[in-house]
Amino acid sequence: MYGFSAAGRKTPRGTSSSGVRSMLIPSQLSPFPPQSIAFSGVSERRRGLAQEKMNENGVFSRDKVLTIDTMNPTVKNVEYAVRGPIVQRAMQIEKELREGVKKPFTEVIKANIGDAHAMGQQPITFFRQVLALCSYPELLNENMFPEDAKNRAQRILQACGGGSVGAYSASQGIDCVRQDVARYIERRDGGVPCDPDNVYLTTGASDGIVTMLKLLVCGEGASRTGVMISIPQYPLYSAALAELGAVQVNYYLNEEKCWSMDLSELESSLAEARKHCNPKALCIINPGNPTGQVQSRQCIEDVIRFAAKERLFLMADEVYQDNVYAEGCQFHSFKKVLFELGPEYSDNVELASFHSTSKCYMGECGFRGGYMEVINMDAEVQAQLSKLVSVRLCPPIPGQALMDLVVNSPQPGEPSHITFMKALGQAPDMFYCMKLLEETGICLVPGSGFGQKDGTYHFRMTILPPTEKLKILLAKVKEFHQKFTQQYS
Ligand SMILES: Cc1ncc(COP(=O)(O)O)c(C=O)c1O
Repeated sequence: MYGFSAAGRKTPRGTSSSGVRSMLIPSQLSPFPPQSIAFSGVSERRRGLAQEKMNENGVFSRDKVLTIDTMNPTVKNVEYAVRGPIVQRAMQIEKELREGVKKPFTEVIKANIGDAHAMGQQPITFFRQVLALCSYPELLNENMFPEDAKNRAQRILQACGGGSVGAYSASQGIDCVRQDVARYIERRDGGVPCDPDNVYLTTGASDGIVTMLKLLVCGEGASRTGVMISIPQYPLYSAALAELGAVQVNYYLNEEKCWSMDLSELESSLAEARKHCNPKALCIINPGNPTGQVQSRQCIEDVIRFAAKERLFLMADEVYQDNVYAEGCQFHSFKKVLFELGPEYSDNVELASFHSTSKCYMGECGFRGGYMEVINMDAEVQAQLSKLVSVRLCPPIPGQALMDLVVNSPQPGEPSHITFMKALGQAPDMFYCMKLLEETGICLVPGSGFGQKDGTYHFRMTILPPTEKLKILLAKVKEFHQKFTQQYS
């Protein structure tokens, strides 16, 4: 940065040619055009302020450096509907109600943002016990916490600098938590391997998504990066793209077909975008927000093939992976389907997928926990990613600890298992039978309906179906049982 000395010689800003600190004088007092003159030996406070003006009382005032015209224009383009003007007005109305203003209603019911706890959902006991122990390890000496909660807390604390959640962690996240996330992904995806080095813990999923977009966006004019997002979308995407100055490439979900992704729509949206930008990435929210659809396996396969053919980087936002309720619906992770398509795809298609502690049965938005897994990322880019995340030092440690508990919940036989399942709102045998029904179509009765010894779980089945059907039934139950115990033990 350079200013000019009175003699007109170029000097580092704020320093005259004689090395004395300098200032710019108010333009109306100066015989020189603004920003072209500096006098030495005058108060530093007014240095460099060409826009400084004297008011009628003889007091200097200055225009703001940062004004709506000089600020970063990309920030002005950011819109975030879930916290936009309606929400601001809602907060104002709440205040008015508190102050006694009469309205045709007595409270504002907020259904604008997915903040389960704010709406009264109770936290899962086990999560909060472990977090309490991590935050205040003195509690480890108390009898009020179950042993498994203490063990988890101790394990997390041992992995923290100085044994405290108040210390920074590695920027990618605490090692043992990333390992637990990797094991969780493997279990979820039926054994598809996951390398903990490809797992990055994040400050909620939002942080991971924005970080990936930062890596992707570049170029000018027709070579500016385009990013394909679903419409309707979750406004984080449009907001982040606006902030980064990327080109938002819309593809519309098919409302008539339960908001599914339509290949022909993807193709035409991409072809149109290629006329004016460089589309590089395709974002998918599955299960969807705000649309709630769960993409079928076939649809995911099609999308992966499309991404491979069109050379697009896939971003799979899977924060609602545990929120699948509709009959016959099943969550398929993009990673799993990618690997099931074979090496032609699994060795090539680049994918980042995201999960969070904010949604599903956890609803722990405030802890800002999340992770992303990257697949087939170029090694040099991955080094840049690791550098980029190191700038923000690390995600919050309590959020990392919580992520660990989500991917590593209490197991059968551990003292907290029963409470945990109740927290999930289901007795363990009810959970088993419900899952069996959803996955195999076999209908049994949970043992809790008949009464059973505490800590034991049963199901009741009749043997009335014909022998041939019974054989099929037993084979299916056996297969399910093995999978279930592998997943939950
Ligand atoms: C689809 C989707 N992605 C990402 C997020 C952000 O979640 P987080 O709180 O983990 O940043 C949300 C939050 O509602 C969401 O709905």
